[in-house]
Amino acid sequence: MTHQPPPLVVDLHRSGRTLIVPPALTVLEALENEGVTIDSMCRAGLCGTCETIALSGTGTRPDCYPHPLRLCTTAPGTLTHLVLDL
Ligand code: FES
Repeated sequence: MTHQPPPLVVDLHRSGRTLIVPPALTVLEALENEGVTIDSMCRAGLCGTCETIALSGTGTRPDCYPHPLRLCTTAPGTLTHLVLDL
């Protein structure tokens, strides 16, 4: 049996929207599926084009907020809730 992480809940602070990122998608992909346009290039966490400020977050990672987050490599797993400056 394969263990899947719980979905990641993402609140968009400026637009007031909330979306659920399913385990198979990155935050960037989930935003695009909801019609939110984010600039991106490498889609592999290398170029920084998709970097967005995370205002707060909840999960098993001991992150300090706010901090920039590369949305193309952020997916459900260590995070269960994020608030993005979007
Ligand atoms: S698109 Fe290059 S780091 Fe995300």
